Amino acid sequence: MWRYGANGPLDSGTYGASRFESESEEMKIGIIGAGKVGSVLAGHFVGLGHSVLVANSRGPQTLTELARETGAAPVLISEVAKGVDLLVITIPLKSVPALPKDVLSGLPAASPILDTCNYYPIRDGAIPEIIRGMTDSEWTSRVLGRPVVKRATTSLPTALVTGTFKRDRRIA
Ligand SMILES: NC(=O)c1ccc[n+]([C@@H]2O[C@H](COP(=O)([O-])OP(=O)(O)OC[C@H]3O[C@@H](n4cnc5c(N)ncnc54)[C@H](OP(=O)(O)O)[C@@H]3O)[C@@H](O)[C@H]2O)c1
Repeated sequence: MWRYGANGPLDSGTYGASRFESESEEMKIGIIGAGKVGSVLAGHFVGLGHSVLVANSRGPQTLTELARETGAAPVLISEVAKGVDLLVITIPLKSVPALPKDVLSGLPAASPILDTCNYYPIRDGAIPEIIRGMTDSEWTSRVLGRPVVKRATTSLPTALVTGTFKRDRRIA
């Protein structure tokens, strides 16, 4: 797992001690993106006893089935980051700049952002900075204006609920 700021990888002390590192406390977790990865993570986090908010681009009325299946609470994108202990962003990389400009305004300063997004040129189009060598998470961090934590990019969503991803309280 790596942590990125606008100027590259961050040292491990950037976030200090936060609830993210807690083994026992219930967290409030927001997830932007309710596709293959977001839905698996929502169910996983709820199963661990956390309170989960989830949002997509089309609105909470499109997430009723996901809510029934996972126990996560669908919310407007404008609500998903407010007061959460951890925010997960799991959308196509090209959609990151399309997020509302104030989407992070209610996110506490100590709450980390977990970024699963990968750069696929065929899906996301040409992003010159990444083509020139910037990592996708560094780019995401610059677009958002906040550091992000990168989840390793080799996992299939199903690996999160099979033996590859231990069902303990680790996030990544
Ligand atoms: N780290 C890893 O190991 C790993 C593994 C697999 C995939 N990934 C990456 O994780 C990301 C998600 O993958 P996925 O397979 O879950 O994608 P997916 O199934 O295509 O789902 C994408 C989700 O993003 C939402 N979304 C798109 N634009 C949005 C916006 N502007 N605001 C809010 N929500 C938006 C979509 O909602 P709507 O349908 O309402 O637009 C949908 O719920 C991708 O970047 C993918 O490459 C990472």
